[in-house]
Amino acid sequence: MTDINVPSGVTNKELIRWVTEMVELCKPDNVYWCDGSQEEYDRLCEEMVDAGTFVRLSPEKRPNSFLARSHPSDVARVEDRTYICSLAKADAGPTNNWMAPKEMKATLTPKFDGSMKGRTMYVIPFCMGPIGSPISMFGVQLTDSPYVAVNMRIMTRMGTQAVEAMGDGDFVHCLHSVGMPLEPGQEDVTWPCSPDPKDKYIVHFPEERLIWSYGSGYGGNALLGKKCLALRIASTVGRDEGWLAEHMLIVGVKSPDGRKDYVCAAFPSACGKTNFAMLIPPKAFQEEGWEVTTVGDDIAWIKPDENGRLQAINPEAGFFGVAPGTNYETNPNAMDSIKENAIFTNVALTDDGDVWWEGMGPAPDHAIDWHGKDWTPASETPAAHPNARFTAPITQCPVVDENFDNPKGVPVSAFVFGGRRNSVVPLIQQSFNWAFGVYMAATMGSEMTAAAFGNIGEVRRDPFAMLPFAGYHMGDYFGHWLDFGRKIPEPPRIFSVNWFRKGEDGKFLWPGFGENMRILKWIVERARGKSKGYETPLGWMPRYEDMDWRGLEDFTREDFEKVMALDRDLWIKEIAMHDDLFFKLYDRLPKEMTFIRELLLSNLWRSPELGLATPRPDEQEEVVMAQAQAE
Ligand code: GTP
Ligand code: SPV
Ligand code: MN
Repeated sequence: MTDINVPSGVTNKELIRWVTEMVELCKPDNVYWCDGSQEEYDRLCEEMVDAGTFVRLSPEKRPNSFLARSHPSDVARVEDRTYICSLAKADAGPTNNWMAPKEMKATLTPKFDGSMKGRTMYVIPFCMGPIGSPISMFGVQLTDSPYVAVNMRIMTRMGTQAVEAMGDGDFVHCLHSVGMPLEPGQEDVTWPCSPDPKDKYIVHFPEERLIWSYGSGYGGNALLGKKCLALRIASTVGRDEGWLAEHMLIVGVKSPDGRKDYVCAAFPSACGKTNFAMLIPPKAFQEEGWEVTTVGDDIAWIKPDENGRLQAINPEAGFFGVAPGTNYETNPNAMDSIKENAIFTNVALTDDGDVWWEGMGPAPDHAIDWHGKDWTPASETPAAHPNARFTAPITQCPVVDENFDNPKGVPVSAFVFGGRRNSVVPLIQQSFNWAFGVYMAATMGSEMTAAAFGNIGEVRRDPFAMLPFAGYHMGDYFGHWLDFGRKIPEPPRIFSVNWFRKGEDGKFLWPGFGENMRILKWIVERARGKSKGYETPLGWMPRYEDMDWRGLEDFTREDFEKVMALDRDLWIKEIAMHDDLFFKLYDRLPKEMTFIRELLLSNLWRSPELGLATPRPDEQEEVVMAQAQAE
């Protein structure tokens, strides 16, 4: 049998036992334990260059950076192939795929049997969160993909440091195979994966804290610390232990008086978390002393400290960010983060050995597209895949927060929820209280993006931006949030935003990006009890004069009113759509949801203030008629 090569520093018996068992099952040619060193990273990258998986980018233009092109069938998360295999089907809930753990293991064991033949198994110990943090969690991923190994070094605290901190303690077991064993003499391909889209399985066994992923080498399907551990498994651990694992960025906001607040914001995939996490305030704000810093751009783990104050950490150590649309105007800090030491997947390669994507800047006259084919601006297909991504260490971000690596985490002042909605939902609104905020987050809708397979543009309910990531019944998840807020003395304020509302001309009504600072300022001041707003049937909203418009004078009061407008009829339809979700989750839906819906609906019906699209039933007339009938 293959030698499992346990390094001298590894004493964890369960780890050694499990690796031995998985080597017997997967039958790799070699076993290699990652130490996380730079030397190792460089060597693995060089090996991938030799194998054709990586293209080394120009050392002048993009030092120490690489391009990978995936198989065209393996470009995003596969939600229809993602399973929560809890013991009871009811615990997975109707929004997750489910199979009995036994049955799933019986299905997958033969697939993993020999799946790593002809390949090396990489053993990747990692820590999600700062080493030494009470909020952090360990994992070990076994994979036959060196691409995964080098990405994991950027995305997590990986290697010897994790082994040492973990000691003999628990860890989440993460098994991954691209599902393409090599027969003796068989030549490899540059992006091995299971060729059949139905033959991919992203599987979670929450009771065992176990992950099995088969057939895909891309992103969240394969970097198992991210969505699989830090969201699906961690959300179930959080439910059991009384904390939260969320699809949220964490941003620091410092006001001119030196006071700093941290805000956690949940937006669905490819809806602007990276941008918001590192936004550059407008000039007038900068000059006055406002500063924005980045703790995380995708995931937050949130726990109450001994005083009941919420503390958040970013379990990740890098960005796995959407490339298309990123440029020096929309997100200069992201552009600076990927200047060097970055991995690019499915972007275009320019003739001078650099990268390009749609929305980066002027198109080159010629490039090699993400399929590896010649491309010119006249080509009919995009040069980069819409879900092309960059991987880069968070420490390369010019505005990385001083507390990014702080084991204590950062205190949370506010929660923000935002979907991609071209109508109905206003730019900014604050919920009346925690329960209303939970309702609003639970009923969030968003248009689908290229980050997952599906019908792009179609509005779907994406509660808490967690629809693809909750590791248990979504109704229980709402209940957990409600309970969580009741148990802490001063729950943070909850806000909803929508950067994506469009006018009749189909253009975005709100300039977005750095201008979102104006919203962020209102939010943090509101959380401090300072900024003004007025009550609407749905929550608190700022008036035009409650916002800071310095430097954006051409955005008029009328423009603002358009992007803030509440249309009563559209909202009544919207609330009717909430029922589709509620009926689906009915067996475990907290009753607060039903009562708040009723309250919102009554508020809307009886609100004379809203510019009514159609007249509401004229109560006056009804009274007159009733009186006439009585007489
Ligand atoms: P995941 O990494 O998939 O979880 O998503 P993310 O939320 O980090 O995605 P990202 O920030 O990379 O979202 C990119 C998309 O959001 C691009 O299409 C951007 O153009 C768009 N976007 C980001 N901020 C804004 C904004 O303020 N206004 C508008 N209109 N679009 C924005
Ligand atoms: C997302 O889809 O929300 C991502 C990218 O952050 S992936 O890691 O591929 O899931
Ligand atoms: Mn994400």
